[in-house]
Amino acid sequence: VLVDVALTPRDLAGVDLRERCALVVDVLRASTSIVAALDHGCPRVIPVATPAEARARARTLDGTVLLGGERDGERIPGFDLGNSPLEYTAGRVSGRPVVLTTTNGTRALLAAQAAPETGVAAFVNADAAAAWAASRHRDLVVVCAGERDGLALEDVAAAGLVVERVARLLARVRLTDAAIVARVTGERYGVDLDRLRADAAWARRLAGKGYEADLAACLTLATSTLVPWMVDGALVPFDNDAARPSRRASA
Ligand code: MLT
Repeated sequence: VLVDVALTPRDLAGVDLRERCALVVDVLRASTSIVAALDHGCPRVIPVATPAEARARARTLDGTVLLGGERDGERIPGFDLGNSPLEYTAGRVSGRPVVLTTTNGTRALLAAQAAPETGVAAFVNADAAAAWAASRHRDLVVVCAGERDGLALEDVAAAGLVVERVARLLARVRLTDAAIVARVTGERYGVDLDRLRADAAWARRLAGKGYEADLAACLTLATSTLVPWMVDGALVPFDNDAARPSRRASA
């Protein structure tokens, strides 16, 4: 199995997604928020590109739908939820689909859904995401959502943890140079998430905006066993422990 990492969204342009499975990483905060939503009983998260598209999509769904997302880290005017994983509580999202648009995370997801199987990874579900990827029996590309077209350290670090875990689970893996760069970054920061919080530019920016609690929620390992994965344009929960899509997926 070939394991590759798109270190920036721009790198994804050179990757042929047709035969691969993809894992999209936007640690701060979209992929962590998507995991939180599904963990708390949201049946599906529908990623879209723009706020206008989100509103239009919500109009086609029933009244239980919620609008979520951010621009420049802040909740979009008129939306029900921002992009903080702490907002996606059972009280808010249980039984309610969410249409989500974020600056980088949903953009990467929309690009990566050209793969036959696309999942979502963060620090909180790194083990589960690696187990999911290893069980697909396809070449893997981990897609770092990054910041605009550039690199985000926290995404590369989380991608690297997933790479390292996939390599441990599978007997025969070949890592691309980019995957090795990510793995080394993951080894450096996976054992020192406080250091990552200090070093990563977007983490410092979020701290400056008062989102310290979000950083704590996002820079945490293994609090979830769930992998959001794309089915018909929506992210639904896959639970490795159940070795099949969880019942919530069909709810
Ligand atoms: C994004 O998708 O760009 C990020 O998740 C932004 C954020 O932290 O809200």
